[in-house]
Amino acid sequence: MKNSKPLVLMTYELPENWMGDLLNQFNVIKGLPDQRGLDKNLIIHLDQVEGILCLLDDPLPGNLLKKAPKLKVVSTMAVGVDNIDVSTCTRLGIPVGHTPGVLTEGTADLTVALLLAVCRQLFTASKDARQGHWTNWDPTGWLGVDLKNSTVGIVGLGKIGTAVGERLKGFGANIIFTNRSPLPEKISSLNAKQVSLDELLKTSDFICLHTPLTEKTINLIDEKEFQIMKPSAILINAARGPVVNTSALLRALKNGQIRAAGLDVTDPEPLPPDHPLFELDNCLITPHIGSATIQTRKTMALMAIENLKAGIMGTQLPFCVNPEIYQ
Ligand code: GLV
Repeated sequence: MKNSKPLVLMTYELPENWMGDLLNQFNVIKGLPDQRGLDKNLIIHLDQVEGILCLLDDPLPGNLLKKAPKLKVVSTMAVGVDNIDVSTCTRLGIPVGHTPGVLTEGTADLTVALLLAVCRQLFTASKDARQGHWTNWDPTGWLGVDLKNSTVGIVGLGKIGTAVGERLKGFGANIIFTNRSPLPEKISSLNAKQVSLDELLKTSDFICLHTPLTEKTINLIDEKEFQIMKPSAILINAARGPVVNTSALLRALKNGQIRAAGLDVTDPEPLPPDHPLFELDNCLITPHIGSATIQTRKTMALMAIENLKAGIMGTQLPFCVNPEIYQ
């Protein structure tokens, strides 16, 4: 009986109450807990698999996907799909599911939390207090910068960028942004100005990155971009690590080309604990936790499972990255 159910490979373990009826409906084989991607435990089943449930750090290159002739769906528990060879999936007629929308607010909250933590030096101040350096009320100690009347530049005004803009507008910041296409309605709702990337980098006090990772956005922020930022600029990246060139960022932070950075994503990821970025007091790093709230992660899991089920049943995925395959 077990073997007559469609076979699903799942690269990770989830709490049981996040999985809906997944385990009843399918024959699910899970990856090893300490390994990412399709480990050897999973690869041996590729010729029989009908669905793959993966995470954003599981690489799914075309050469692996081509080894799965029965594959009907790839479903990731993430909004970003840069780990999946979507064009090969599209060519093979395989729908790719993701989880847009649900993580917008959580990721925007985390972006603002990082920005505030960096601009008010919360990490250093807290560390100093613990280490006995809080000896008096120091008029010039742990000084931060104001958000009110500052200029916040949002690179990529999609759902998350917009939610960040809405929040920061509430702090009295002026919002400018870049986007691939003109967004006149955002200009009025956020009272924002759409500008070129160069203008944004030159004039922003805070720069928040919210672009997806594509061939065009790899190293979007590199040596040249750091050179034109204000020395007082604070860079926040809660998008994807490779949008920023890590060596250029390290140099910019060390040489005072910018004031500080808050990173929820890095390149590489995970960032090794001995990485020089961790040694800097002006760099706060969190381990890619933008969507990490109980409600959001559970919803993401259930959405990913809905996509998986639809794909295996041959109906259109509710949240499909490549809907052109249905045309
Ligand atoms: C988070 O980074 C996601 O893509 O879901």
